[in-house]
Amino acid sequence: MQKFSFDKITTHLISSGFVYPGSELYGGLANSWDFGPLGTLVKNHLKEAFRQHFIRENEYIVEIEPAIIMNPKVWEATGHVANFHDPLVDCKYCHSRYRADDLISSQHPDICCDGKSVEELNTLMVEKNITCPTCGKSSFTPIRQFQMMFKTFMGVTEEKSSVVYLRPETAQGIFVNFKNVMRTSRGKLPIGICDMGKAFRNEITPGNFIFRTREFEQMEIEFFCSPDEDLKWFEYFKKDCMSFVQSIGLSSENLRYRDHAKEELAFYSKATTDIEYLYPFGWGELMGIASRTNYDLNRHQESSGNDLTYLDPVTNERYIPHVVEPSFGCERLMLALLCQSYDEEELEKDTRIVMHFDPRIAPYSVAVLPLSKQLSDKAFEVYKNLSRHYDATFDTTGSIGKRYRREDAIGTPLCITVDFDTLEDNAVTVRDRDTMKQERIKLDELNKYLEEKLGFSRSYR
Ligand code: GAP
Repeated sequence: MQKFSFDKITTHLISSGFVYPGSELYGGLANSWDFGPLGTLVKNHLKEAFRQHFIRENEYIVEIEPAIIMNPKVWEATGHVANFHDPLVDCKYCHSRYRADDLISSQHPDICCDGKSVEELNTLMVEKNITCPTCGKSSFTPIRQFQMMFKTFMGVTEEKSSVVYLRPETAQGIFVNFKNVMRTSRGKLPIGICDMGKAFRNEITPGNFIFRTREFEQMEIEFFCSPDEDLKWFEYFKKDCMSFVQSIGLSSENLRYRDHAKEELAFYSKATTDIEYLYPFGWGELMGIASRTNYDLNRHQESSGNDLTYLDPVTNERYIPHVVEPSFGCERLMLALLCQSYDEEELEKDTRIVMHFDPRIAPYSVAVLPLSKQLSDKAFEVYKNLSRHYDATFDTTGSIGKRYRREDAIGTPLCITVDFDTLEDNAVTVRDRDTMKQERIKLDELNKYLEEKLGFSRSYR
């Protein structure tokens, strides 16, 4: 169970500068969010932790950055133009709009709607007497399929021939570059290719803050291997993804696997598993791992006419590689970490909000706080030195107690106080966010001390 309400957490995140309502100056834009200075730092650190785990420390995986707008033939080949739809229904009485599959599953959790046709969903809506959550009536329009890809135009004319799409997933940029990467790298299977970046979906029912939005970031890996090794790699990534999300701070009791039942699987998939997180609003999909067989490369080979087969140098067999795909949503992972970190602690005289981030994820690793404004120059020198290795912040305003509370509330693991003794003993006081204990550390030992305490150091120069 999550200790704190979603409202409480999101209010804190908005008021302290993690997230802002999108286009707020103009009255906002529904379900769009901007990331403030703290949110941007968290997101960057999250992506960096992902890179460290899945790319730098994995000898098989490389990263590429394909374009967001691709040749529309890509989306015809994958079936997105024809099939990337959501089943939309309107209540005939109050005109509220829903996704039919979500509506059915929310009122009948035993029914899984994945893979069901429009006819099957229409039948279920009637047979199960689905009611409108807003007005309680039970009369809906027939289901209409709603295209989720955002369309735009390329070039100066707005006509059919110039229609292009904003990519609804990062994965396809990887498939269309498979041949390029094989040609320009070591060219042997297994090989994983990662793409991290924006994806766009015109969701009918976005919501739950940054959980489901129309613009979000994905961190996807397509892991290409031989057909008889895909289930081995599928099991490997199931474990590896779980161990990654725990390593950056999600606790095991808030995580679970959800293996897709046979009837839920896409027709080409051998196995799919989601990792779910217990958000304050309930269990929700954090990420997914799918065995996609050779479906995508096959489709691109057929549609483009290019040979995407691989000649195994050992067996001399030629085949289209199979693929295992771990697919993360950056904001979903970020939201889980924000909810997991939020805490309120009763102290002797007051309550403090504290975000218990893993030091690698926290917006700032250290805050440098001069006890008095007269010590600002010395403290600034300390800050400048540390900012070469860490995201550091410098705060001179308010009492030292208030400044500690401010840093606790944004999750800064260590506060470094420069006081009048510093000028004599060349040492500072380091305060730990979680224990609130303080230690006196010599300035010439500070970098080593921080590296040990935080568990890392980034060198920016
Ligand atoms: N290439 C496979 C793919 O895109 P998906 O399950 O549709 O699979 C993968 O998306 C992940 O992307 C999800 O597990 C989720 O974390 C994230 N995601 C999908 N739609 C999202 C949305 N509308 N808002 C935020 N994150 C989303």
